[in-house]
Amino acid sequence: MTIRAFRLEDARPCAEIMAANTLWQRYGVTVETAVRNFASGLERGAALFVSEDDDEVDGFLWLEPGGAFGRSGYVRLIGVRPDRQGSGLGQDLMAYAETFLFRSTGDVFLLVSDFNLDAQRFYQRLGYVQVGALPDYVLPGVAELIYRKRRPVG
Ligand SMILES: CC(C)(COP(=O)(O)OP(=O)(O)OC[C@H]1O[C@@H](n2cnc3c(N)ncnc32)[C@H](O)[C@@H]1OP(=O)(O)O)[C@@H](O)C(=O)NCCC(=O)NCCS
Repeated sequence: MTIRAFRLEDARPCAEIMAANTLWQRYGVTVETAVRNFASGLERGAALFVSEDDDEVDGFLWLEPGGAFGRSGYVRLIGVRPDRQGSGLGQDLMAYAETFLFRSTGDVFLLVSDFNLDAQRFYQRLGYVQVGALPDYVLPGVAELIYRKRRPVG
C-alpha cells in the first residue's frame, strides 16, 4: 500500500468510492458532484492524497492545515473503498494525516455524523475526543459531532 499525492485522474475512482458509500449517499453525493469537488480542490492546491494497492486507488484523504478556526488542522474527508473497509487502511490514512497536520499545528479536528457510530468508534480508538456538536449543520435532523486530537507529547 502506498499513499501519494492526488492527481487529476484520481478524481473519478475517489468519486466512485464516495458515491458507493451509504454515508455520502445520505448527503446527496453523486459521482459527478464528487468529481467536480475533487477537481476544484486540486485546482486550488488542496492537500489531497490517495492510497493505492496494485495501482488501484482504494482510499483518499483531504486535509486542511489551517482549516479549523484558521489555526488548527482539519481532516475534511477520509474514505476507504467499501470492499477494503475494516482491514486497517483507514488507520494508516489517519496516521499519514496526523504526520502531515501535526507538523504545523498542535490540534487536529474533524466532523463526524451523529449516526455514523462505526466512524466514531474508529476515531475514538485513535485518540479523538468529542468536544462539541453542530445540530442541523449540513443535514436537517443530523448533528455533526466535532472531534479533536491534541498532538501527542514527545
Ligand atoms: C471510516 C473509515 C475511513 C475507516 O477506515 P477502515 O479502513 O474501514 O478502518 P480500519 O480498518 O483502520 O479500522 C476499523 C474500524 O473502522 C470503523 N469502520 C469500519 N467500517 C466502517 C464503515 N463502513 N463506516 C464507518 N466506519 C467503519 C470501525 O470502527 C472499525 O472498527 P471495528 O472493527 O471495531 O468495527 C472507512 O470505514 C470509511 O471510509 N467509511 C465510510 C466513510 C466514512 O464514514 N468516513 C468518515 C466520515 S467522518
